[in-house]
Amino acid sequence: MPKNIAIVLMGVAGVGKTTIGLALSKAGGIPFFDGDDYHSSSNRDKMAAGIALSDEDRTAWLLELQGVMETALLKGNCILACSALKKAHRAILEKNSNAIHFVYLEGSKNLIEQRLANRIGHYFPASLLASQLETLEPPENAFTVSITQSPSAIVEMIMKTLLNKKTSKAAIGLMGLGVMGKALTQNFVRNGISVSVYNRELKGVEELVAKNFVQSLPLLKDTQGFCDYTSFIDSLQSPKKIFLMIEAGAATEKVLSELAVLLNKGDIIVDLGNTFYKETETRIHHFAKKGIHLIGAGISGGELGALNGASIMPSGTKEAYELVAPYLNSIAAKDKNNQACSTYIGEGGTGHFVKMVHNGIEYAEMQLLAEIYGLARAAGKNPTEIADMLSSWKQDKLDSFLLNTTIDILNTKEGNDWLIDKIHDASESKGTGTWATNALTNAAIPASLIANALYARQISSYKNLRVQLEKNYPNKKEVITINEASLKNAYHFTKMIIHFQGFWLLDEFSKNHHWSLDLSEIARIWTRGCIIQSDFMETLVPILKITPTILLDTSIADQIKTSAPAATEIVIQALENKIATAILSDAIQFFNAISTAHSTANLIQAQRDFFGAHTFLRIGATAKEHYAWGS
Ligand code: 6PG
Repeated sequence: MPKNIAIVLMGVAGVGKTTIGLALSKAGGIPFFDGDDYHSSSNRDKMAAGIALSDEDRTAWLLELQGVMETALLKGNCILACSALKKAHRAILEKNSNAIHFVYLEGSKNLIEQRLANRIGHYFPASLLASQLETLEPPENAFTVSITQSPSAIVEMIMKTLLNKKTSKAAIGLMGLGVMGKALTQNFVRNGISVSVYNRELKGVEELVAKNFVQSLPLLKDTQGFCDYTSFIDSLQSPKKIFLMIEAGAATEKVLSELAVLLNKGDIIVDLGNTFYKETETRIHHFAKKGIHLIGAGISGGELGALNGASIMPSGTKEAYELVAPYLNSIAAKDKNNQACSTYIGEGGTGHFVKMVHNGIEYAEMQLLAEIYGLARAAGKNPTEIADMLSSWKQDKLDSFLLNTTIDILNTKEGNDWLIDKIHDASESKGTGTWATNALTNAAIPASLIANALYARQISSYKNLRVQLEKNYPNKKEVITINEASLKNAYHFTKMIIHFQGFWLLDEFSKNHHWSLDLSEIARIWTRGCIIQSDFMETLVPILKITPTILLDTSIADQIKTSAPAATEIVIQALENKIATAILSDAIQFFNAISTAHSTANLIQAQRDFFGAHTFLRIGATAKEHYAWGS
């Protein structure tokens, strides 16, 4: 007969011992004892007064708990929640029994502090956390679990590992097993979350995708794969939590309309696709009428991010967000303070809006690197030499995911040839850059670099016309001499302007629509996991706490002043040599315009009034007037 075991959930106050204990008790039908309930009144009074318990105070308490477990073990398994911070404490609990298994719930100080701050009606004051952390002697032989995971994932892990039992239903479902869906599934499972996966069945095109996928990896031995909605939905714990990783647009619409009739009140759908934010907004309202929650979550990081940690931008009702937050946090990248790069963005479609702006910045950054590459090429450098030059820029706080991607690309060779030289030079796009450009244009927010990056891609796609026109307008380029330090400064300058415009766009929309976007928090979740993560993004986190207008920050202003002359020099050189540099040129043009107090728009207003009687505002006046020009 297998022997009974006692699971002792340990860790400092606030790690969730009681929550996990109760959930584990429910899932396994095992009695649960909360150590807090066994404290003497003098111990409780001490803690409530903010006084740390001495070892003496703890001994009687631990001995009583040891007795409680011993009695319970006679009847079967049991669970105990108890801080058991010191080795000596654990020794008391283990007295007379080797049936005790410690589960150490581990978390960062920040996260625990946050949780304690949210705890209502508990006698343990948050101020005692420091003394508990000081007392803690991390266990050597315990089963250690990170509390960044959801309670259900933790329960599932304990059930599987210590009790050798499986909860029959999966914690979440994931639909859409393209590259991203497959990577996300592995990420969830690696974090201890049980997943059921679904993929459609398309004869001759997508057959047995889900079943084959779960069988292809040992990691997925407990994951179930489905190609029919009913069994897939039935395999999930309630409320059902379904994550969609499906191509935005018609495919997502189809799945959502099918789910709408199968899901029940309280169920939650998380759309991880690059859906247009207004569509998300409409769908949230539509589903709300049925009591079904929809979360629109922008996700960035490509396949590697999905696999190892992405940057996630979820929005919808706060209530629904809270229900899926632990799952999103578990698959998110971690920032430099080990906090998840996922945060509640706001109501409605704001998550997808923020992802759209992320992509606008992504387009501009990619175009900037392409222009730097073009100039360096014109200066006679080969791709490897350009890669070396870009690598040397990293030390100047210019390191970024896209810089590294570019370096890797430029270093890639097939035999003696660089792969880059074999790639057709007409760019494509999937839509987010166009949406961002439409949005900024419609809202009259001149984030022109995003628009120009899109136009540069569109111009590139007219390959035949470009070839034809170059014949008509010979465009012979001499090898130019480029000052590398200037090129680096031009890159730095333009990068700052791109980010200024991106956050400006977010801020203007936030103000106009009362979204209360937290720009610093958005920058924080963009520091890891996503395509636009960079050293510079890291510097923006504290700056955006103070101002949304990063050009007003004094340290940014200093960097702008130092780099603007080089940007101008490089653009002049590009113009003289007929090298198209949409982003570099626009950055300096935009900067000159936005930092000019007196513009020439007075003439525009006069012209409008001249031919269309559109009126103008006279300096110092409060009402507009029409002038009888030329009469
Ligand atoms: C990301 C990317 C991703 C995007 C691709 C393709 O953050 O992981 O933004 O979501 O779909 O980069 O976008 P384009 O085809 O429009 O370049």
